Amino acid sequence: MSTRILSIRNAIYAMSLAACSITACGQREVSYNRDINPIFQTNCAICHTQGGAGYSQSGFSVATYQDVMKGTRYGPVVSPGSSVGSTLVRLVKHQADETINMPKNYTIDLAAHDNIIMPGNNARRLPEREIELITKWVDQGAKNN
Ligand code: HEC
Repeated sequence: MSTRILSIRNAIYAMSLAACSITACGQREVSYNRDINPIFQTNCAICHTQGGAGYSQSGFSVATYQDVMKGTRYGPVVSPGSSVGSTLVRLVKHQADETINMPKNYTIDLAAHDNIIMPGNNARRLPEREIELITKWVDQGAKNN
């Protein structure tokens, strides 16, 4: 094979690499509605909606996309484009203080007549796949898509 053909091949390869880095080639875009919201509803909503222990203590609600982006009563926990800079990602990766790793386990207080859901001692860890989806969603701009 001639050097010329090789160098054309290399050029095409380099171009396709450049295109990939612009469009995050091979990585499908994570969707808030399809991928992320179901994780929040299954694992967080029990505490992080009106009346829940997480909501009443921190002000963080997962009821709507807008609530998630609003964050706690002290401010945002998602920094669009930066999973490293997002408190929410650190919490679900269990890189935060042990006491605020999320999701917390919970116990149902049977002594209370209305089955109050209380935070338990240890945090569960989400499946790696779900942690990865949340990380990608934030890195891709934390869109309402
Ligand atoms: C069993 C209840 C419970 C569950 C389930 C739960 N949390 Fe929490 N969360 C809490 C409580 C309580 C707090 C208040 C801080 C504390 O006491 O640790 C909190 C605080 C937070 C905070 C604010 C931390 C800060 O810096 O102030 C975020 C963000 C958060 N939770 C995210 C989540 C996410 C995301 C999920 C689901 C993947 C989740 N939580 C599941 C109970 C829960």
